[in-house]
Order: sequence, then structure tokens, then C-alpha cells
Amino acid sequence: MGEKDKLEMHTNVDMSHQNTLWFKMKLFLDSLKVNGVVPTIKRIYQRIYYKQKGVDFSTQNLHNLTLVGEHAEHGTALVSTSKDLLERVFSELEALSAVKIKKELFIDYGSGKGAALIHAHNLGFKEVYGVEFAKELNDTSLENIKKLNLQNIHSLNEDATAFMPPKETTLIYFFNPFDEVVMRKVIENILEAKKYFIEDVYIIYGRPTCGALLEERFTLLGTKEHESGTTVSFFKV
Ligand SMILES: C[S@@+](CC[C@H](N)C(=O)[O-])C[C@H]1O[C@@H](n2cnc3c(N)ncnc32)[C@H](O)[C@@H]1O
Repeated sequence: MGEKDKLEMHTNVDMSHQNTLWFKMKLFLDSLKVNGVVPTIKRIYQRIYYKQKGVDFSTQNLHNLTLVGEHAEHGTALVSTSKDLLERVFSELEALSAVKIKKELFIDYGSGKGAALIHAHNLGFKEVYGVEFAKELNDTSLENIKKLNLQNIHSLNEDATAFMPPKETTLIYFFNPFDEVVMRKVIENILEAKKYFIEDVYIIYGRPTCGALLEERFTLLGTKEHESGTTVSFFKV
């Protein structure tokens, strides 16, 4: 686990610096250095597009939010997945598994403001499910989906442990959402659901703080270190 991953583990960690102009300038310069000019311009264009539509993917901690369920102390603050990251990890998964992943049903555990849900929909998934325990974040997610007029995205205000993956599931996404107390229960649910899954199911786990737990129960396909410092692990259920 990278230092950055450890720092962003706790529910009430203050992430507000990620919304400052200084932080955004740094992201821009880093992106120019790592990705080059064209991808950086594409990224800026996308941000402008979402801003114009009134879509909000901003970083937020969970302090003072209305959390459903019993795991208030076990979740991490909201940091949204970018479209570039989801596209990249999806390609990395296909390369590591050496199969074309079926774009049937995508699940994001701890879906925040719906960023990964919207990107998965745009990647071509037929059905998309998000589970988010903070009511206010899920409300923003529902508003974002509405503003973009997207169909077949289900953003649920639930604790992750209360959700059973549908039988059509093909891809499960975690972006460092919670600690091992929650992860253990979620893993049990996935194993239960495995009995009725129709297709092979894969897992992408960004900032895999509980990666060792998944390694015990699923097949690790590989781990990638991104230039940004983010680690991503890939599993087959
Ligand atoms: C690092 S963010 C990831 C957001 C989103 N997956 C994305 O990639 O854009 C983690 C999210 O998990 C949510 N979360 C934490 N614990 C949870 C739980 N037990 N059940 C559901 N959501 C949870 C947090 O509220 C936060 O929005």
C-alpha cells in the first residue's frame, strides 16, 4: 500500500485541499508531465463539459453526513474516480485476464457522487449499480445522473454489506471505499452471489488497502503501480 493510500483511509480525513485552485494546478502540471498534451486537453475539456452541465464530482469528507447502516467509522472520504483512470484500469484488466470483459453489469461499492458509475455507463456497460452509505453523496449522484440524462444507472443509498450483487454482474469496482470490517462482509456476499453468477466476474480494486483479504478468497491476476502513486489490483472471483 502506498503512503498516499494510507493517508486517505479514514472517514473524516480532511480532503478539502483537493478542491483548491493550487491542487488543481498541480494536477494539471502532473498530467502534462505524465500523460502529455492531448490527454491533458481531453481531461480539461471533460471537466468543462461536466461543469457546464452542473455535474459535481468534488472531493468531500464524510463528516456531518447522514450515514445509513452500522459502519460509519469504517469508510473512507469521497475521492471520485476520473474517466481516464477507469478506462485505464479496464484496459489493464483485459490485458491481465487475456479476455474481453463482458460489459453486462458493473457495480461500484462506495459509489460517492456517481463518477465511476457514469464513466462505466460511458464505457458501454448495459447496467450499472452503485451502493453509497452517505445520503447526501448519493443524492448528488442521482442529480448528476439526471443532469446527464443517463438510463440504467441505479445509485442506491445503502450500506455496502446490505447489497447482494445481481446474477448478471461481470465487473466489481472498489476505489478504497472501506476498511476490512466492511470488506470481509462484502467478500462473503460476493462468494454467496458467485453461486448464481451467470458470467465470469472480475474485480478492480484501486488503492487496495484490504488487498490481502481479497487474495485469500479470489484469484489475484496482478497489481499495477500508476505514475500518480495509485496502486490497483485485479482479481477474478
Ligand atoms: C474513495 S470514495 C470512492 C468513490 C467512488 N467509488 C468513485 O470512485 O468515484 C469511497 C466512498 O465509499 C463510501 N463508503 C464508505 N463506506 C461505505 C459503506 N460501508 N457502504 C457504502 N458506501 C461506503 C464513502 O462514503 C465514499 O463515498
